[in-house]
Amino acid sequence: MIVGKPLFTTKEIQTKVRELADRISADYSGKDLLAVGILRGAFMFFSDLVRAIKAPLTIDFIVASSYVKMDTLGEVKIHCDIREDISDKDVLLIDDIIDSGITLNQIRERILARRPSSLKICVFLDKKERRMVDVPVDYIGFEIPNEYVVGYGLDYDNKFRNLPYISIFKKKA
Ligand code: IMP
Ligand code: MG
Repeated sequence: MIVGKPLFTTKEIQTKVRELADRISADYSGKDLLAVGILRGAFMFFSDLVRAIKAPLTIDFIVASSYVKMDTLGEVKIHCDIREDISDKDVLLIDDIIDSGITLNQIRERILARRPSSLKICVFLDKKERRMVDVPVDYIGFEIPNEYVVGYGLDYDNKFRNLPYISIFKKKA
């Protein structure tokens, strides 16, 4: 297994996180922001982002995993759901990466059914080429090519999440 040189360095990540946080702080001033992180992948991005957001906020998490089966659109399993009452909240869903869009689409619909005041989505990485479901994403850190990436919360087999940068990951033949 090979982890290549950084695609995004720690410094580039920090700059982008600050940029996103500034936009979110401006957009949510005077609102009742509930930041919801999708675990496990978003844990590092989530904690950096909320620390940099200047608007008052509350936090919660969803623990989810997705199983993409052949010939189906894939199934999202919710291991642990939001605890907060989200009616009257301005919910911001935060994830590490959007790939097929299946995970965020299903979580989005689940949250919308509980009628929050508003719902927006923020992802750090967007692998646009792989999209199978159209999901409205309001804040995107970086668009990336169709490569498997690890680090900064992103894993291969639950490993490499702790890398403080993002790298392209190749499995040796
Ligand atoms: P989806 O295909 O948009 O539903 O993405 C589901 C999940 O797959 C993401 O939240 C990530 O946890 C994971 N994922 C997708 N692409 C990558 C990648 O390149 N590296 C690590 N995890 C990924
Ligand atoms: Mg994820």
